[in-house]
Amino acid sequence: MSQAGLPHPFHTPTPEQTAAVETALQTRHSMRAFLPTPVPRETIERILQVAARAPSGTNTQPWQVHVLTGEAKDRLVQRLHAAYDDPEELATHTEEYAYYPREWVSPYIDRRRKVGWDLYGLLGITKGDKLRMHEQHGRNYSFFDAPVGLMFTIDRVMQQGSWLDYGMFIQNVMVAARAHGLHTCPQAAFTQFHRLIGEELQLAPQQMLVCGMALGYADPEAVENTLVTEREPIGGFVRFLE
Ligand SMILES: Cc1cc2nc3c(=O)[nH]c(=O)nc-3n(C[C@H](O)[C@H](O)[C@H](O)COP(=O)(O)O)c2cc1C
Repeated sequence: MSQAGLPHPFHTPTPEQTAAVETALQTRHSMRAFLPTPVPRETIERILQVAARAPSGTNTQPWQVHVLTGEAKDRLVQRLHAAYDDPEELATHTEEYAYYPREWVSPYIDRRRKVGWDLYGLLGITKGDKLRMHEQHGRNYSFFDAPVGLMFTIDRVMQQGSWLDYGMFIQNVMVAARAHGLHTCPQAAFTQFHRLIGEELQLAPQQMLVCGMALGYADPEAVENTLVTEREPIGGFVRFLE
């Protein structure tokens, strides 16, 4: 242990430790069905504490996390569903920042379509089945039944660089969750309802919603959790200049 109670940074990983880190990274899949099994508060705290070792420009640590369980989560879920299922009300909710490009081009649009149809295919949702698509998208707003819902916010004064830092923190949360046998689904779907969420969580006006996340024990029987997404081989995105 080093002075701050952290493992020594020059620690050489054993083969088991190498495998453990790679397994945590490779078994992180977005899960979309969770068991009701509760997650102990100490486990949630440990995950967030370890995740906060994420780097950030000049150590600004721009993350703020709101952990929802029990009745607090249920109240938010109820309000989100009421808004999502009422077309008139739904039309009044728009996201505050553009997560996706305004204009979709290849190869991004192709990958987006593929993951969408792969998921719907597993669930037996066919093209044009608007009702089932609405229902499946709506599962986001119950955190896919996970016992823990996380909301991530950032101070509006922070700029693009801090959003980069934020992504590293969020990935750390998801990988640290794997170390405890837990799974996650990061969720931008909540951003559409940032006003409602801000109200329900009594967020300070200076706080902006980045995204949400479902956290819990994934249901191993759920067909949607069998989805394994593709990745481009490194030849498709890496260039070595020697
Ligand atoms: C910031 C972020 C937001 C996301 N938002 C959602 C979401 O709202 N709902 C959802 O079902 N999946 C969401 N995803 C999951 C992606 O669809 C998923 O990461 C991608 O298809 C790759 O699959 P994998 O996570 O299983 O590797 C999100 C992922 C990220 C990184």
